Amino acid sequence: MTSEPARSWDENKTQSLLSRRGLLMGPQVWGAAQAPPGKAYSLAGGLPDVPTLPGALLEEAIAETLREEPKAAMEYGGLYGAPTLREAVAAREGAKDGLTLGAENVLVTSGSAQAIHNVCDLFLDPGDVVLVENPHFPGTLRTIRAFGADMVGVPLDEEGVRVDDLESAIAGLRSEGRQPKFLYCMSNFQNPTGATMSLPRRKAIVDVCAREGVLIVEDDAYGDIWTTPQPPPPSLAAIAGLSGAVRIGTFSKSLATGLRVGFAIAEKDLIDRLASCRFDMGTSPFLSRPIARLVTSGSLDRHLEQVRPIYAEKLDRLVNSLHTHAEAYATWHKPAGGFFLWLALRPGLDAVKAARAAAEQGVMIGAGPAFFADGAYTNHLRLAFSSIPTDEIDEAVKRLAAALGDLAAGSAK
Ligand SMILES: Cc1ncc(COP(=O)(O)O)c(C=O)c1O
Repeated sequence: MTSEPARSWDENKTQSLLSRRGLLMGPQVWGAAQAPPGKAYSLAGGLPDVPTLPGALLEEAIAETLREEPKAAMEYGGLYGAPTLREAVAAREGAKDGLTLGAENVLVTSGSAQAIHNVCDLFLDPGDVVLVENPHFPGTLRTIRAFGADMVGVPLDEEGVRVDDLESAIAGLRSEGRQPKFLYCMSNFQNPTGATMSLPRRKAIVDVCAREGVLIVEDDAYGDIWTTPQPPPPSLAAIAGLSGAVRIGTFSKSLATGLRVGFAIAEKDLIDRLASCRFDMGTSPFLSRPIARLVTSGSLDRHLEQVRPIYAEKLDRLVNSLHTHAEAYATWHKPAGGFFLWLALRPGLDAVKAARAAAEQGVMIGAGPAFFADGAYTNHLRLAFSSIPTDEIDEAVKRLAAALGDLAAGSAK
């Protein structure tokens, strides 16, 4: 008879061994909002439309890869990533941005989340300070926080980061003897506000950052998903000629989040430095090589041409529905692409209470302190219209409006 070994380990022992970062992050794991029991309508996550996920394209590309380059696909691929994907990204992103890029300007990463982590690893020490758009993507705010860095939020308007506020944030820090390491921002279809920077705004931000010695970290997760006839203007990184800028992209929103493949684009020296701060043995060649095939064959762009009208239709449906059901409670600016609409609740309606009331009606929505560098929040809700089925949008908005109505009447719990 075997006896169970005595358990001598407990949470207190784990706690006593934790690193500063482990202590800082605490026991809670960051993840997707939990749906309430019963039928739920999710306007919560930045996920692509499920029926259009390109499973067949991926299947074919993976089969081709295994047939034609099995060794390269199944061996380690190095810290910079699969050469075929580095070349493919350089060609496609360079053409989009009017830049001449080579493979040496591209680092393949495990999602854009890893690229952002990699940038933080390279540049941040505890006590450093970073400028971030306020509000912003909670995942990155969490990453920056994990490095023990302070964040100073810069407000946005419909054209993105406000230049006067950027300048005064830098001046304020200088007066305390502090130099911000970088500005983390999204020029296209910002998460969560949906704002897209105008070309003059882009140029002004590049000028300020160059003059003030602040690196630009441009997260372009949604840049391929425009819902207007024209794509957005060139990236900040392109306007800067890659000087003092890193642009971060992903295949999560254009192909599938489950791939976990993204990239960083920068001058060669910076790419080398980023690679030197990687400890994961590189991003999967098994997945990167099929993606390279989809990029070079034009399949990715054809796929995007098919899905953009679907997102545009969902956005139209959302906006029409808001006009019909929610005009009494909120205002909004229709974004020119991406996955999100930022809803400003009328004064007196609290965003966190509204999200809670909506959840009770079976509608999941993003709101609250997680989007804000300082943990405060405004009266805004983030409505993600990308993954909800088009024919459910009306019902979701009706329920949201009912929740807002209850809240306005003071009857919501
Ligand atoms: C703005 C932004 N950046 C980065 C990410 C991370 O994406 P991934 O790591 O899947 O590329 C997300 C995901 O939602 C996002 O919204």
